[in-house]
Amino acid sequence: MQTGDVAQEHLSDGMAGACLDAEEPSSAADTRFARDVAAGLTASRKRIPCVYLYDARGSRLFEHITRLPEYYLTRAESEIILDGAAEIASGPRGPVQVVELGSGTSVKTITLLQALLEARGSVTYLPIDVCGDALAQSASHIRAAVPGIAVRPVEARYREGLERIDGDGETMLLWLGSSIGNLDRDDAASFLGDLRERLSPGDRMLIGIDLAKDARALEAAYNDSAGVTAEFNLNLLVRINRELGGDFDVDRFRHVAVWNDDAGRVEMYIESRSDQTVPIEALGIAVSFVPGERIHTENSHKYTRGEIENLARRAGLSIERQWVDSEGLFSLQSFRVDGG
Ligand code: AVI
Repeated sequence: MQTGDVAQEHLSDGMAGACLDAEEPSSAADTRFARDVAAGLTASRKRIPCVYLYDARGSRLFEHITRLPEYYLTRAESEIILDGAAEIASGPRGPVQVVELGSGTSVKTITLLQALLEARGSVTYLPIDVCGDALAQSASHIRAAVPGIAVRPVEARYREGLERIDGDGETMLLWLGSSIGNLDRDDAASFLGDLRERLSPGDRMLIGIDLAKDARALEAAYNDSAGVTAEFNLNLLVRINRELGGDFDVDRFRHVAVWNDDAGRVEMYIESRSDQTVPIEALGIAVSFVPGERIHTENSHKYTRGEIENLARRAGLSIERQWVDSEGLFSLQSFRVDGG
């Protein structure tokens, strides 16, 4: 599997996850979701890729998470972009194309696009997403919010979408929200290296990365008091019930999110509260759980400043500039593609 596909399949970029199964299967058991669930739940350590958290309900719950008091990531990244938009956008006047992985409609994307249009005079926005609906919505939203911008949605996986882009002028690639954290560190470095190869010297990548911090703050961000993250995680069982004829009793499972200090990441699991066997009709399997047994559903890697430098080095990129929010929680980096 290519690294671009690794990113597209294992990362959650909002609506994108909801569209992954748009492959017109001949039966429920034929989808990639079905195959991944069957493989993941029959493995010795049960796991399901995090991209499947984003069906329509999961995407709505994630939007809710981004507004929770404990989930500082979105707030901190928005602060950086809102305060730094003019500086981030500064550069020679002339056309810039902004390629975003995932479709953005958030205030941070809009602010940045407005600042770029003002500073550079001509901006083309190219959101890349596998989900046509999300792209169409994002395109009309951005056109209305940023008059004068050209919007060219690209319906594709990341790698394929990048291959289709060949505009004039500087490219700025946006990958926000610390989605990079959902990749393992090696995959993150090779994916960034892959992106670099698709850009030209002088181009930039603007990448949001969550910083390593106190375990309590991290665990609180993924164990919010309103229980939204729990609902988001357990929704995976609801999805299996609906799409694959599963018979999960959601109340017999619980959400677990723990900081793994050795791996430098928050790990998210669905844990069985009891001894139970759950049939999944479309897969023709019954999955047994002992009390406390877990399904691994997501990793969220956090980076120290040194690890970000290392990531850039491994990907063959230079850190041109790094911004951190006022509480020192989150970072936004401008990685430059060097020549030669
Ligand atoms: C999308 N991604 C960066 C989020 C994260 O923080 O890893 C997904 C998420 N999972 C639980 N809460 C938020």
